[in-house]
Amino acid sequence: MSSENVVDAAPHPAWLPDGALAAVGRRRVAVVLPDLSGPARGIPGADPDGSADVASTLRAELERATTAHGGDVVAPDASPDLLLALSPELSGGERGIPRARPDNSGGGFRFVRDGGRVTVTAATATALLHGWFHVVRLGEAAFRGPDADERHAPAFALRVLDHWDNVDVHPVMGQVERGYSGGSIFYADGRVRDDLSRVTAYARLLAATGIDRVCINNVNVHAREARLLTDDLPEVARVAAALRTYGVRTHLAVSFAAPMTLGGLPTSDPLDDDVRAWWRAAADRVWATIPDFGGFVVKADSEGQPGPFAYGRDHADGANLLADAVAPHGGVVHWRAFVYDHTQDWRDRSTDRARAAYDHFAPLDGRFADNVVVQVKHGPIDFQTREAVSPVLAGMPATRLALELQVTQEYTGQQRHACYLAPWWSENLGFRPWGEDGAAVRDVVAGRGPGAAAAVAATGGGGIAAVSNVGDDRFWTGHPLAQANLYAFGRLAWDPTLAPSTILDEWIGLTFAGPDGAVEPRVRDVLHAVLDDSWRTYESYTAPLGVGFMVRPGHHYGPDVDGYEYTPWGTYHFADRDGIGVDRTRATGTGFTGQYPAPWRDVYEDLATCPDELLLFFHHVPYTHVLRSGVTVVQHVYDTHFDGVERVREAVAAWESLADLVPAAVPADVDARVRERLAEQLRSAVEWRDQLNTYFLRKSGVPDAHGRTIY
Ligand code: GCU
Repeated sequence: MSSENVVDAAPHPAWLPDGALAAVGRRRVAVVLPDLSGPARGIPGADPDGSADVASTLRAELERATTAHGGDVVAPDASPDLLLALSPELSGGERGIPRARPDNSGGGFRFVRDGGRVTVTAATATALLHGWFHVVRLGEAAFRGPDADERHAPAFALRVLDHWDNVDVHPVMGQVERGYSGGSIFYADGRVRDDLSRVTAYARLLAATGIDRVCINNVNVHAREARLLTDDLPEVARVAAALRTYGVRTHLAVSFAAPMTLGGLPTSDPLDDDVRAWWRAAADRVWATIPDFGGFVVKADSEGQPGPFAYGRDHADGANLLADAVAPHGGVVHWRAFVYDHTQDWRDRSTDRARAAYDHFAPLDGRFADNVVVQVKHGPIDFQTREAVSPVLAGMPATRLALELQVTQEYTGQQRHACYLAPWWSENLGFRPWGEDGAAVRDVVAGRGPGAAAAVAATGGGGIAAVSNVGDDRFWTGHPLAQANLYAFGRLAWDPTLAPSTILDEWIGLTFAGPDGAVEPRVRDVLHAVLDDSWRTYESYTAPLGVGFMVRPGHHYGPDVDGYEYTPWGTYHFADRDGIGVDRTRATGTGFTGQYPAPWRDVYEDLATCPDELLLFFHHVPYTHVLRSGVTVVQHVYDTHFDGVERVREAVAAWESLADLVPAAVPADVDARVRERLAEQLRSAVEWRDQLNTYFLRKSGVPDAHGRTIY
């Protein structure tokens, strides 16, 4: 049977079950939209932002909600409880609503509550759709409470989810690289799926969080996937149409070698005229087929992907080549800063993978075109459970920078462990590279960092991107509770100041809404107990104190302390009988601390001020080194690993306490899947605990102060 045939026709509703629409659905609602359904509809160029599609979607949303809950769609002048109105005159930025950019990104909406009646206005259909989902999210609270007049707009103009999906199943990486949720929602059997209803349902979920861009293929662009840019454009256009229904725009990851592999040219040199012409023609074809196409994502000179280095050119030359091709269409190029030497010699202590992105990119600041976004992983290594914030984010004021996060849990339990990542992302977004009174990372990527060039400020910076965790699994994300990560990414992309526990509360309120919209309080409490601190719990039983990795090479699941210690990948911990950690100081180490501005360059440099949680990221210390917390490094390892397993046991018990609420308040299939995953998490946490503790006992010879069992 082909995988096309095993797609579940009814995926889990995630955070939009019918119950989540109860408050709006039982009311009288109205929508004012200009008639966008006329002759312009569907003609490329005539409706470049897809407003007509989104307008139809809005009407359908209102019908769907009111049909399910007994409300009514009424005329705008019939005193509706909720009125949604498209007011193109707002596009000038009047009344405090930020102006949507020419490419239709960044727009917000106005929310007015007057005597219990709500009016939402916006300048674009997509912004109005986001306003609709804002009301859905608030539920009854939208209509209660004092009169209000609020403006809501996304903090970041660009909010992208990157799919690492392959069209063909890759022999090593599978269909979705680092995917833990089944196959791709876009592709099956070596081509774009015939039935894209799952893609539309996905776009609906994304619109409900405010995400409005998706890159639909893997950054490692293999031969088959490269052709999405050319032969497969009509198929990509079908995906774009499915996404556009909910105001989500399509991007493609492209191969830097495409002029050679697809175009038959003898070179891909970014300064070659034929190469430039090839890219321009390629971009022209893309936009002729998909007028609201977003742009390209590029991984170049990284982990074997082709790039400008082959021609003695740098990354600005490479990025500007593509920027030039997409500029006439208003497109953007997301150029990844994940560039490092993956053929390192472990004997060479001077090469430091953490330094690489800054060393490659910071000297190029000011050379990137205005429509290039340099996309920077949050940490200098690779999406670890804990690592320092990338200094690149503080080192390129004349460049539009995007923060790249990983929703898919490659290093954080692979959607077998419950690990709610919003607290970790929040820490990164809120990190202040210039100290307490300085700007935060969230300001930098919004174009408001210190010394931001005029073009960076004017474009609103590079925004945020993340690797999606979605697949064709019935629950979308393998672990049903991993849906919370996808939801939280979208919400933080809209408002990075939201508290992680507040976002989790929203997610619970929507996802576990009963038919009347209410959530059983015990379910709410247990989900908080299981998820609120789950990232710290995960950290406690895995690699300690920011040292990173210690995972099985290749698939990256489960413990293997020395798995990467003698490999070319540059991720070492240097444990010996005396101590552990990577000396990245200027005084005696790789000098990485020098890539930070003050005060962090000094805070990290000094053992006395370096935060405990990053100690082994910056310093090599004896096992007996006393942490700021008062315990030694090795005792910290023992304590956290014993404690982490106990906390997983508590999570298991908490979830089991809901048994009597299945299926009334917790669907039986959700319960079964969560139990299965929690059992694996407990097994795996015990394995981590025992391997890590045993490793450190054997290396150090220091016994556990509490005499617990170590092997
Ligand atoms: C990680 C991941 C790879 C991925 C790479 C990237 O190294 O393991 O699968 O290709 O990140 O971000 O490009």
